[in-house]
Amino acid sequence: MENFKFYSPTYFVFGKEEETRTGHYIKRFGGKKVLIHYGGGSVICSGLLDRVKLSLETDGIEFVELDGVKPNPRSGLVYEGIELCRKENVDFVLAIGGGSTIDSSKAIAAGAVYEGDFWDFYQGKLVTKALPIGTILTISAAGSEGSPDSVITNEDGMYKRGATGEAFRPAFSILNPALTQTLPPFQIACGITDIMAHLFERYFTTTTEVEVTDRMIEGLLLTVIKEAPRVIEDPGNYQAQANIMWAGMMAHNNSCGVGRVQDWASHDIEHELSAIYDCAHGAGLAVVFPAWMQYNMKHDINRFAQLAVRVWGCEMDFMNPENTAKAGIAALRRFWTSIGMPSDFAGLGAKEEDIEKMAHTACHGDGRNGVIGGFAKLEEKDVAAIYRLML
Ligand code: NZQ
Ligand code: ZN
Repeated sequence: MENFKFYSPTYFVFGKEEETRTGHYIKRFGGKKVLIHYGGGSVICSGLLDRVKLSLETDGIEFVELDGVKPNPRSGLVYEGIELCRKENVDFVLAIGGGSTIDSSKAIAAGAVYEGDFWDFYQGKLVTKALPIGTILTISAAGSEGSPDSVITNEDGMYKRGATGEAFRPAFSILNPALTQTLPPFQIACGITDIMAHLFERYFTTTTEVEVTDRMIEGLLLTVIKEAPRVIEDPGNYQAQANIMWAGMMAHNNSCGVGRVQDWASHDIEHELSAIYDCAHGAGLAVVFPAWMQYNMKHDINRFAQLAVRVWGCEMDFMNPENTAKAGIAALRRFWTSIGMPSDFAGLGAKEEDIEKMAHTACHGDGRNGVIGGFAKLEEKDVAAIYRLML
C-alpha cells in the first residue's frame, strides 16, 4: 500500500424525509442566502422542490433559484449561476438532483469566489476555495455527493473535463433512498453501471498488497450486483435502493481508492462519447469498460482472474488464467445487458468516423499530455483501438 492522505468532511444525513430538514442543515453550515440549483423538472414533479423550499422558509433562509441543468452539464449555465451568486450575494449553493446538478453546483460555487475563468479549474488548477455546497441526491450514480470532483461539458468544442479539490466536497449531503423511487429503470441501470465503473477504475491497479481496499471493492460490487435486478424490477423497493445509494457514495468518495494507483482511462474515453453524443454517462461506460478490459487484460491477467473468481463466481483455470479473466469479462457483459445497458457504438448512437477525433481529444485535448490511465498507460493509438472494439 502507498502513503496517502484522506480527508472526507461531508456530513451525511441518510434516510426517509430528511429533506424536510434542509433549512436546519444549511444553518448548521452557516448558509444565510442560498442558490437552489436543479435540473429539468423531476424535482418539481415529485414535489421535492416544494418540500425543500418550505423547509428553508421555516428556518428563515433566503434563496434564489436556477433550474435547467442538463445531463452532461454545460459551461453556459455555470457562467449564469456564477453571475447570479455574485449579484444576489449568495453564500451557499444547494444542489437538488443527480451528478449533473451537483457538478454544476460545484462549478458555480468555485467560480463565484474566483476572479478568473472557472474553466481554469477544469484545465487542472486545484480547487482550494468555493462557497459551501449542500446536496439532496435523487439518483444513485455519479457519487458526486461525497466526491471532491466535478465534470462539466465545455460548450465551446463540446468536450468534458473534470476538476478536483477538497473544497468540492459537499458540506452536507442528504441521502433519502425514497427520492430515487421515481427514477425510470433505464436511468437506474445507468447509475448502477457508473457505480460499478467507479469501483473498477480503482480495482485495476499496479499497487500490490492492497487487500483491504480490494475486499471493500469486491464487497460493494457483490452488493450492487445483487440489488440491481430488485430495484429495476421494482423501483419502489426502499431497502434495495438504500443499499445501492450508500454503495454509490462509498464507491466514489475514495475510501476504496486510497493507497493505490487508480486507472480512470475508461472514464476519459467515455467522457468523449457523452460530450459528443449526449448519451447517459453510465450507458457509455457499459460500452467502454468491457472493451478497455479486453484490450488491457494482458497487463495483469491474475488481477482480472481474481475479479472473475471473487465477484462473478467463475471457476479458476490454473493452467490458463486468461480463460478465467475472459470468463469474468463475459459475465460483466451479460450482467450489463441483463439490466438494459447498450453494448456497442450503435447502442449509443456513436459513429465510427469520429473515432480518430475522440482518441485525439482524449489524449491531447485541453489539459492532457498524450497519455491517459494509471494501470495501463494508453496513447492515442491505443484509445482508437479500444473505440474500435466497441463497433
Ligand atoms: O434533470 P432532471 O429532471 O432532474 O432529470 C434527471 C436527468 O434527466 C433524471 N433524474 C434524476 N433523479 C431523478 C430523475 N428522474 C426521475 N426521478 C428522480 N429521482 O435523471 C437524469 C440524469 O441525471 P444526471 O444528474 O445527469 O445523472 P447522474 O447522477 O448519472 O450524473 C451524470 C453526470 O455526472 C458526471 C458524469 O460525467 C455526468 O455528467 N460524473 C461526475 C462525477 C463526480 N462529480 O464525481 C464522477 C462520475 O464518474 C461522472 O463522470
Ligand atoms: Zn462515472
